[in-house]
Amino acid sequence: MKKLLKWAGILFAVLATAVLIALTVVYFQTESRFSHVYETQKDIVTIPKDAESIEYGKRIFQYRGCEACHGGKLEGKVYLDNPAIGKVISGNLTKGLGGIGKVMSDADWVRCIRYGIRPDGTPILFMPSTEFYFLSDKDLGDVIAYIQSVPAKNNEMPRSSVSMIGRVVMTIIPAITFIPSELIPMNAVHPVAPEIGITPSYGEYLALSCKVCHGLNLSGGVIPGFPADWPPAPNITFGGGSALPTWSERDFINTIRTGKTPLKKELRVQYMPWGSYKFMSDDELKAVWIFLESTPKLEYGNR
Ligand code: HEC
Ligand code: HEC
Repeated sequence: MKKLLKWAGILFAVLATAVLIALTVVYFQTESRFSHVYETQKDIVTIPKDAESIEYGKRIFQYRGCEACHGGKLEGKVYLDNPAIGKVISGNLTKGLGGIGKVMSDADWVRCIRYGIRPDGTPILFMPSTEFYFLSDKDLGDVIAYIQSVPAKNNEMPRSSVSMIGRVVMTIIPAITFIPSELIPMNAVHPVAPEIGITPSYGEYLALSCKVCHGLNLSGGVIPGFPADWPPAPNITFGGGSALPTWSERDFINTIRTGKTPLKKELRVQYMPWGSYKFMSDDELKAVWIFLESTPKLEYGNR
């Protein structure tokens, strides 16, 4: 019996050491990804100063979801604190204490938002620049003009961080990363955004973020990489199991504006961010609607 216990003890010690070594390797590998210095294209984006562009930039900041993460005064906040992922803490973007506004050049803003890269070349965690990469020069310029125009707000906060479980996940599952810049083509020629209009292509440009949850082809299903208590995303193509074929364009606009579907179902804003999308104009929502109409009709869950 004693001998058995001794062997069990040795086995345990060996396993514990192996796990410790593995975790140390994961730790240092992820550290080197977090501190990697990136080179990007040096895009020249004009930052306007007029009130109309700033107002337009504010709306983009709202409907693209920046405000939901960075706060209504751009002061930054703890957006998510989940041991499986880490601490998602959005930065204070103003010129106040703890804010980056005072030290950022126009080019720094462009790199941060379009490529997810800080002025020192290291990557920004969690922030979805994979979407913002596609913003046109005009949209990006207007957003930056708006950010530069907001009053200073004092709010000092720690940086975001990835938890140990999060580090293990992004090491062993190649499809998951909390460093969006790893997925951005840093040195490619920047894609040209579609022209503004009530067209499927402009609708798709406005609807880039929908794909994160509803799937690349919008047929919905369980959202990969999200916390287990999240509801699956519904099918928003016009195929099997989708509510959309029974809706009119007006119904869709009302749903996004109020969070209530034509059947009076309440969409929970913490899962379906209509609180951001409601800032789209009628024409913009019409473009999203005809984009959804134009996509292939798929059965639910074919993401
Ligand atoms: C999902 C939440 C989320 C959204 C949406 C989001 N951000 Fe962020 N943002 C973050 C996080 C998290 C950071 C990293 C802060 C840190 O380093 O701790 C960040 C960092 C930044 C930085 C660099 C700040 C710094 O401290 O270096 C800028 C600039 C920025 N965001 C602008 C924007 C703009 C503009 C938009 C919309 C186009 C946007 N963000 C949308 C979460 C978000
Ligand atoms: C962060 C994840 C997320 C994003 C981003 C997102 N959705 Fe959703 N969406 C959901 C979830 C989850 C539901 C179900 C909500 C509920 O049941 O409360 C939903 C519900 C809906 C519904 C209602 C469908 C029905 O059958 O009742 C529509 C329409 C919709 N989303 C459209 C969109 C559009 C358009 C976009 C992009 C502009 C978008 N969603 C972006 C997660 C998301």
